Amino acid sequence: MIYLDHAATSPPRRAVLEAAWPYLTAVTANPASVHEPGRAARAALEGARERAAAVLGVRPGEVVFTSGGTEADNLAVLGIARAAAAATGRRHVVTTAVEHAAVLEPARALVREGFTLDVVGVDGDGVVDLDHLAAVLTDRTALCAVVHANNEVGTVQPLAEVAALCRPLGVVLHTDAVQSAGQLPVRLDDLGVDSLAVSGHKLGGLRGAGLLAVRGAVPLEPVLHGGGQERGRRSGTADVASAVAAAAALALADAARPAEAPRLTALRDRLLAGVLGLVPGARVTGHRTQRLPNSASVVLPGVGGELVLAELDAAGVVCSSGSACSAESEDASHVLTAMGLDADLARTALRFSLGPETTADDVDAVLALLPGVLAAAGPVR
Ligand SMILES: Cc1ncc(COP(=O)(O)O)c(C=O)c1O
Repeated sequence: MIYLDHAATSPPRRAVLEAAWPYLTAVTANPASVHEPGRAARAALEGARERAAAVLGVRPGEVVFTSGGTEADNLAVLGIARAAAAATGRRHVVTTAVEHAAVLEPARALVREGFTLDVVGVDGDGVVDLDHLAAVLTDRTALCAVVHANNEVGTVQPLAEVAALCRPLGVVLHTDAVQSAGQLPVRLDDLGVDSLAVSGHKLGGLRGAGLLAVRGAVPLEPVLHGGGQERGRRSGTADVASAVAAAAALALADAARPAEAPRLTALRDRLLAGVLGLVPGARVTGHRTQRLPNSASVVLPGVGGELVLAELDAAGVVCSSGSACSAESEDASHVLTAMGLDADLARTALRFSLGPETTADDVDAVLALLPGVLAAAGPVR
């Protein structure tokens, strides 16, 4: 099998599993317990916090472990907006049309609580419209959430410019770095953001684990109420093994990044050039250069994306028609339609997302298979 669906999930790395193993088998006490095994679990959790914090350039106490990217985004969007509303009366939220549902849906939920919401559009490459953003941000805005890199088309957003618009107005800036962590630098200060969401399983960690890094000065209302774990910001007994795995995955991917990013960029460009050469009218979706190193996404006019996907699957090549999260929906991608593609073209989308084990031979094998796959899939119906 050639696995090119790392944006959906990236298989756990051996080193990550080895880091987590003691906390699944030997050190299994509740990290809140005061006895010796509890203290050992606590030490592991705090070690993981330090390891993640070092990558993100924050203090360990600014890392909140969560059940994944979705929870981290929900905690940021709901928690920051509600806390700002309570403290300062700001009840306006801004986000973009190319966010993951983990940001868009909590933002919409805030509208049902009386917040106002502006969803800023993007250009044909999926880059946020900064003029539109500047026009909607005010000193009544509680939160602006802009994804670091989009999961369907890989476009990287100009966060420094977004931050420059938010800062003078005192608007808290959150970014969803679920796809970019491990592939791009994600230090909060360098990006100019106040909070940042990471998911373990996109990095070779375990599914169901992630974290939110949030600056200590940013008021945050918890979403999960209970025993007050994670310094009151996320109640629930911490999953030590998964947190250790998430931190290890983040640290290992970030350490490998200087070598991996150019390697993946070269493979990505080889794949894109090959597909464009093979399929008349094929177009790259997303920005050509400001994109994730591992993300090769295209539309193939006149070719059914789902049919190509099924034929590739039968040939042992695993990829996706867009976002795995919306794969069960028949609707055309909200990201591609926000970029101005019509729904029919959006339904021809194909996304290959590369990972640490992807080789040039894999890319060449996919390109060799593609003509047969396209012939078998036939034209779009
Ligand atoms: C950009 C982005 N944000 C958030 C998520 C949700 O992360 P998780 O699967 O860890 O809940 C995903 C997962 O697909 C994603 O791609």
